[in-house]
Amino acid sequence: MTKKNSETPHQDGVALPRRQFLKAGLAGSAAVATGTLAAATGASAAGLGIPDWSRQLGASVDDAPYGKPSEFESTVVRRSVEWLTATREASINFTPLYALEGIVTPNGICFERHHGGAADVDPEQHRLMIHGMVDRPLLFTMDDLLRLPRVSKFFFLECAANGGMEWRNAQLNGVQFTHGMIHCVQYTGVPLKLLLEEAGISTKAKWLMVEGGDAAGMNRSIPIAKALDDCMVAFAMNGERLRTEQGYPLRLVVPGFEGNMWVKWLRRIEVGDESWQAREETSKYTDLMPDGRARRFTWEMDCKSVITSPCPENPLQSKGPNVISGLAWSGRGAVKRVDVSLDGGKNWTEARLEGPVLTKCMTRFYLDGWEWNGDPVYMQSRAIDETGYVQPQMTELQKVRGVNSIYHNNAIQTWHVTKTGEVENVRLA
Ligand code: MTE
Ligand code: CO
Repeated sequence: MTKKNSETPHQDGVALPRRQFLKAGLAGSAAVATGTLAAATGASAAGLGIPDWSRQLGASVDDAPYGKPSEFESTVVRRSVEWLTATREASINFTPLYALEGIVTPNGICFERHHGGAADVDPEQHRLMIHGMVDRPLLFTMDDLLRLPRVSKFFFLECAANGGMEWRNAQLNGVQFTHGMIHCVQYTGVPLKLLLEEAGISTKAKWLMVEGGDAAGMNRSIPIAKALDDCMVAFAMNGERLRTEQGYPLRLVVPGFEGNMWVKWLRRIEVGDESWQAREETSKYTDLMPDGRARRFTWEMDCKSVITSPCPENPLQSKGPNVISGLAWSGRGAVKRVDVSLDGGKNWTEARLEGPVLTKCMTRFYLDGWEWNGDPVYMQSRAIDETGYVQPQMTELQKVRGVNSIYHNNAIQTWHVTKTGEVENVRLA
């Protein structure tokens, strides 16, 4: 811990050593109260110093009409893995989960997955068509959509391939790469149900085909029950219009379902009957099982969690009290509980869930004031959702699913904290 962090301003302006602050603020928390924090040297004017930035005027209010993160945070960026895909356009990058707090992913660092590059769509020209088995085929402009009732909701989006490289063994040394095909934002848009009702769907309607306006013309089938449940046609994320990379000006939001169904640059929704099922059955989005058969319709993202601090990008800096923090989510509802193990899954301690705890949304968890004595640790987190489903160990998951699939790896992650505080991605037998 640096000296800069060792003091916390007190209400009356007097700096209080952090250790004292923690004692005062979290009275009764034995783990914290007995700990020591390094460099809590006490307050003095000399300790603060008079750095350059306090001797001169700062930036003007006109310097950054659209603000950016501090230059000291320039390493917090999306990153890609060069060998993963043949081209840079049909590729993927990863959210820097290790640097996030709370549950919201800032727009500029939401991972991107494109099959034909990010389309640059003019909202004036953009249209959304709804047709097929409907009473009234409709063509919406963006202005039309913006005059309809809208909702705002937080949801995570996880690519089905998240963790896909980790099936056989621990492969990538960073939570950004093992778990970073996920983001969690607040979407604003029109409920899809409302648009379908406006078009008047046939009683025989069973499937939707949704299509994007990118070079890939990405399309997927959505079962009608899901479409009429909680899907949204979103035009905004985290309070502003969608980013180009995330499908500006329109994307489908399919809460809890795999990212692939969340079609970006959404331009067409065609309504079909049960005969369309065959198309979805032969889609490549199935999970190959050990016996050669494939699981199909694995749309819901299974309950999962990961510790984001410590992790390979966030090594432990000092012995004594440390905070363990991470994220949990489930495509089937809200996260009910998260446990943390410090001995590779033998013993578990219940973590504290920091609100809000929302359905099909990331949930932040903490184990506060954990005392690290400098010994190596095999750290794991295990999430349980409101259906009672428990996130499995990799050995259990492999027994059922084998190692041939790329998709839907929701196994427990193990971080090995070494004596020096460094953290490695490892696989326990
Ligand atoms: N929609 C279109 N039009 N084109 C695409 O390539 N990729 C899909 C989905 N929607 C894709 C798309 C996949 S596989 C995922 S995981 C998500 O978008 C990724 O969303 P993001 O780029 O906002 O992270
Ligand atoms: Co995907």
